[in-house]
Amino acid sequence: MNMLDKVIDNAEKFATEYGMKAPIFLGPMAGACPVNLSAAVANGGGMGACGALLMKPDAILKWADDFRNQTDGPFQLNLWIPDAAPKRDEAHENELRAFLNKWGPEVSKDAANGTPPNFDEQCQALLEANPHVISSIMGVFDTDYVSQMKAKGIKWFANASTVAEALAAEAAGADVIVAKGMEAGGHSGNFSPELAARQAVGTLSLTTGIVDAVNIPVIATGGISDARTALATLMLGASGVQIGTGFLRAPEAGISTAWASAIGQTAPEDTILTRAFSGRYGRSIATKYALAMEADDAPTAAPYPVQRGLSQVMRDTGAKENNIDCIQAWAGQSARLAQNISATTITQNLWSEMKSA
Ligand SMILES: Cc1cc2nc3c(=O)[nH]c(=O)nc-3n(C[C@H](O)[C@H](O)[C@H](O)COP(=O)(O)O)c2cc1C
Repeated sequence: MNMLDKVIDNAEKFATEYGMKAPIFLGPMAGACPVNLSAAVANGGGMGACGALLMKPDAILKWADDFRNQTDGPFQLNLWIPDAAPKRDEAHENELRAFLNKWGPEVSKDAANGTPPNFDEQCQALLEANPHVISSIMGVFDTDYVSQMKAKGIKWFANASTVAEALAAEAAGADVIVAKGMEAGGHSGNFSPELAARQAVGTLSLTTGIVDAVNIPVIATGGISDARTALATLMLGASGVQIGTGFLRAPEAGISTAWASAIGQTAPEDTILTRAFSGRYGRSIATKYALAMEADDAPTAAPYPVQRGLSQVMRDTGAKENNIDCIQAWAGQSARLAQNISATTITQNLWSEMKSA
């Protein structure tokens, strides 16, 4: 067997363990992974996903029910491991409100006062929903929760952005590491928000480093959108691939047309790692707002989730008005490869092209 046959064989076996026909995982995307998209990926032989960050327990359970009504395929539910609440700074927030007022409707005084859904209640809802996989990002679950997950036969996929994070997750009981390279669209998964920009490691080096360091399977993610990019990571030792941006132009994703069409025209150098939207580093299209917030004369973004609250009215209005410059236009560096066809077809075509390479 040559090396390519071996990696395809390994990936196929890995997929079979999870009830999948193809080793292709939809990336969990908070706010951008409707049931229709997940079911379409699962019906194509991959695994669906839900980023549950902003969802209350009822919504999480409803998502799982709706998914099961559309497909028999597998799915993962995902949560961010929360940071401590940030220190508030009224003068700084006023400076940001004045800046944001130029980009959308007036930002109210209490815009950043909202409280996120209760993490422990979300964790319990994840167990109750009983998915095939629970995944974490930005840290690891505690020992007690990992035991509860394992007792129910749920597998834990831990996102890691560095080799040290992957080793910590393996030691904490993770079943699989998702090696998340800095090409990825959306938030950086770094356990420490302060280190996200300095430790921005590319998928090529990260996958290799993690495969060499851990003794559990690795899924590669970040910048994967076609058979070339997917096979490259399998050749490095990954057992499967996770794709976010590559599914966002599928009609089932239902994102705004301005965002979907901008993704199709975004060159690798046209995205930016920025704190402008939420206060945590994330990769978006280099829109006018994102670039303005990165300019020397702009105020520094507030910490997460204060910045998210302050920018909310601008982002919501941008989405309503289909205005790319104010939309939270997350996209990875391989955005240009995303196709405007059904997610089922994307999944099926990708796996068949990988196998026939
Ligand atoms: C809109 C968007 C939202 C995302 N939200 C999450 C999230 O809530 N949790 C998570 O683990 N990853 C999140 N991600 C990362 C994806 O799951 C995936 O790892 C990433 O998109 C892969 O890189 P790619 O965009 O280059 O394919 C998000 C990505 C995008 C584009």
